[in-house]
Amino acid sequence: MNAHAQRPEDQAPRIGESVDDLVGDVERLEAVIAGWDESQRTLAFAYRHAIDDLHKNALRKLIASVKIAPGALDALREAASDPLVYAVLRHHGLIRASLQERVEQALASIRPMLASHGGDVEFVAFLPPDAVEVRFVGNCDHCPSSTLTFVAGVKQAIEEYCPEIKDVRQVKGSGTAQGKVDYVSPFSAGLEAKWRLATTLESIPEQGVKAFAVDGAPFIFSRLSRVVSCFRDACAHLGSPISGGVVAEGRITCPRHGFEYDLMSGECLTAPVAQLQAIAVRLVGERVEIRFEG
Ligand code: FES
Repeated sequence: MNAHAQRPEDQAPRIGESVDDLVGDVERLEAVIAGWDESQRTLAFAYRHAIDDLHKNALRKLIASVKIAPGALDALREAASDPLVYAVLRHHGLIRASLQERVEQALASIRPMLASHGGDVEFVAFLPPDAVEVRFVGNCDHCPSSTLTFVAGVKQAIEEYCPEIKDVRQVKGSGTAQGKVDYVSPFSAGLEAKWRLATTLESIPEQGVKAFAVDGAPFIFSRLSRVVSCFRDACAHLGSPISGGVVAEGRITCPRHGFEYDLMSGECLTAPVAQLQAIAVRLVGERVEIRFEG
């Protein structure tokens, strides 16, 4: 389809559409632009920045003129609780990051360390006035040293990003995390690391291996029930793909020189100093998402 053609739905009012829908539109167009040559891309992004500046200045003036009215600040806060309004104001730097977003940023800062142990951490709840709950998932949930990791890493990161939080609590067990990334940029050019849909839970064989590429990068997935691990499809020995290796008893053996790895932790059982490169992974319902720099 011609990306410039106006679709029938473009003519309809868009009020009420979700951030995800609108972001999806932006990302589809960005994918088209990414295929253009450099001069066309430069022009497209210059045009976008000009429109951004226009909107930012108009919004800034709008906020400055209405916030002097009685009760306007409360009304603005209420308006900003809408995810779309929040996302646009955040994009323009006109609103401070929400507590939930800052907690997510704090957790993101520590995820690479947890991922190297085949685990992850998720935001569970904000407990007013100054406490949050988090939960370890994957291997970290079973790791005897997780309490230590929690105190040394997650708590410190949250306190750094959210100084107003005085109490960080670890909760155990499964359940539905209330937390999710609140802020989805509606202007995603210059993409940061983010969660990407990789595959579905049922497509990963229990205690087996599924090889899958995300944005052209190859990964392997394995799972024990609903605990999913993900690693770069590259042996820690010489970097050869490991996905074709023999899988047995929760281990995979590299087809090239026989290095053996634990499929949950990525630990190398042949050379303990080596390790598969772990990728943070999370389940959203039956969707398996991973977080990495594309
Ligand atoms: S490349 Fe895998 S064992 Fe050598």
